[in-house]
Amino acid sequence: MRPVRLMKVFVTRRIPPDGWAALARAADCEVEHWDSDEPIPAKELERGVAGAHGLLCLLTDRVDKRLLDAAGSNLRVISTMSVGLDHLALEEIKKRSLLRSGIRVGYTPDVLTDTTAELAMSLLLTTCRRLPEAMEEVKNGGWSAWKPLWMCGYGLTQSTVGIIGLGRIGQAIARRLKPFGIQRFLYTGRQPRPQEAAEFQAEFVSTPRLAAESDFIIVACSLTPATKGLCNKDFFQQMKSTAVFVNISRGEVVNQDDLYEALTSGQIAAAGLDVTTPEPLPTDHPLLTLKNCVILPHIGSATYGTRNTMSLLAANNLLAGLRGEPMPRELKL
Ligand code: GLV
Repeated sequence: MRPVRLMKVFVTRRIPPDGWAALARAADCEVEHWDSDEPIPAKELERGVAGAHGLLCLLTDRVDKRLLDAAGSNLRVISTMSVGLDHLALEEIKKRSLLRSGIRVGYTPDVLTDTTAELAMSLLLTTCRRLPEAMEEVKNGGWSAWKPLWMCGYGLTQSTVGIIGLGRIGQAIARRLKPFGIQRFLYTGRQPRPQEAAEFQAEFVSTPRLAAESDFIIVACSLTPATKGLCNKDFFQQMKSTAVFVNISRGEVVNQDDLYEALTSGQIAAAGLDVTTPEPLPTDHPLLTLKNCVILPHIGSATYGTRNTMSLLAANNLLAGLRGEPMPRELKL
């Protein structure tokens, strides 16, 4: 019998059980992984990926020219356990794909949409009703009595909500917001999406108009050269002083210095961020000193069920790609 040549797979972290079990069952693969819950150091990643046919990575792993060089010419599939792709040097991957048989890329859209929209709702309500501040007041004795204007925030009913990026997650957020009695939805993006927008009677507007007319702004777009730094000084200056800003996309869509200025000068009322630059945000970062800024540690998709499903989809993408089969969710390069 001819010996079977195993394909080498490198996994950059411990991943949830279903994905791990799928990889362990793959008799045609030899799987190595970084056996930790913490990110793999760059040097270890370069060492681990050398000669690999398949790479299963996370959004914390930068897959750039250097890493692709370290991987070498065996590399056929990159499967990321994320919907975001900004950590992958897609142009470089595309270039290499043209030169040889092709590197296929898998990702995990859809399976995290509802969970991320739930988190966006939690963060929006937490921020606009000032929940962390209110909880702190209960603990530190600041709660002296019921007072008419104490701990007041801003309500969603009859408001105008602006969504930057009416993609899968943006739509799921709008769907959840609708029963709160939102009066008007506005959105921006690469182009109008009349079919999707019809469900919310959402109006496609320019970014300055969205900034100026919204009571609540939710960033749900992907990070691209066009969205990098989109929410900057000009943007915040156009916003209402009573408006609340929420970002669940990527930290780099926001200029954080400009956001800090907007929050401290009273240009805007409050901000809720699930994503920052950098991640983790240093504990002495000025934004963390502000009562009107709620910051979470990038937990949009963090439920046990969703992370498990993401790991299984990432494993299935990887295995199908290596076997030359249709991948469940392949990115069109
Ligand atoms: C989370 O941010 C993801 O891209 O999956």
